[in-house]
Amino acid sequence: MNLKDKVVVVTGGASGIGRAMCVRFAAEGARGVVVADVDGEGAKRVAEAIDGMAVTADVSVEAEVVRLVERAREAYGEIDLFCSNAGIGAAGGVEASDAVWDRIWRINFMAHVYAARAVLPRMLERGVGYLLQTASAAGLLTQIGSAPYAVTKHAAVALAEWLAITYGDRGIKVSCLCPQGVKTNLLQGPEAGPFAFLLDEAIEPEQVAGAVVAGLAEERFLILPHPEVAEYFRRKAGDYDRWLRGMRKLQARVSGGTAGA
Ligand SMILES: NC(=O)c1ccc[n+]([C@@H]2O[C@H](COP(=O)([O-])OP(=O)(O)OC[C@H]3O[C@@H](n4cnc5c(N)ncnc54)[C@H](O)[C@@H]3O)[C@@H](O)[C@H]2O)c1
Repeated sequence: MNLKDKVVVVTGGASGIGRAMCVRFAAEGARGVVVADVDGEGAKRVAEAIDGMAVTADVSVEAEVVRLVERAREAYGEIDLFCSNAGIGAAGGVEASDAVWDRIWRINFMAHVYAARAVLPRMLERGVGYLLQTASAAGLLTQIGSAPYAVTKHAAVALAEWLAITYGDRGIKVSCLCPQGVKTNLLQGPEAGPFAFLLDEAIEPEQVAGAVVAGLAEERFLILPHPEVAEYFRRKAGDYDRWLRGMRKLQARVSGGTAGA
């Protein structure tokens, strides 16, 4: 997909990777960029800078995703590309409370289901449409120190695969964005916790946006702004036990040998 003249919705567009995608899509000549975020003021700032439209929406609430899609269509017509990108981190393992698991599940996973439910019927009618889901390298590998993040990102990858297989022959394209560390609030904010160790090799959100534009142009399923993730993924599939041993060593390095951050 070439972004020129396209109508695009980006959730989590107020900051980090989402903001960088909005800015880059506008620069590529998108006809309409809808910047959606639970942080309405942040979304407005980004939208103003690119002459797009801001929508305040909490993607963990299905009615708000439906409303977002309606607002986008009212403003610009048919949606060509929906980037389901908003996401959060959470520290801890199985001991994390149900409230923590439920919140991250709704934002990092159910939001992708809500987005697909909201846009697919019309895309299937038209026989054309593109879904981009931001998962993470953690969805292919794991996240040291955060079981809720690792699990919800694996689920996001699983859904993206399923959508690509189920609807690929009906004109629906799907890409799954799986970055490793990116310099955003997720790694740098007050709740960075188990994610902070990724800062050492983190890239800029603008580099991720560049990889997204290239991946969309090739209509590639897996978009890997850190190309080395493909090799790690191959090693995992090639020898799972060896990979697990390697990950235990990494965990020991980043958390002093404790199980989790
Ligand atoms: N930063 C990284 O290292 C990294 C790596 C891999 C994947 N990711 C993923 O990239 C995506 C974007 O994260 P980021 O790194 O840009 O972080 P970020 O915190 O800068 O941006 C996330 C945005 O999502 C918004 N958001 C959070 N909950 C929301 C909700 N319920 N409804 C609507 N918007 C909501 C936030 O307000 C924020 O603007 C996430 O899915 C994240 O898991 C990030």
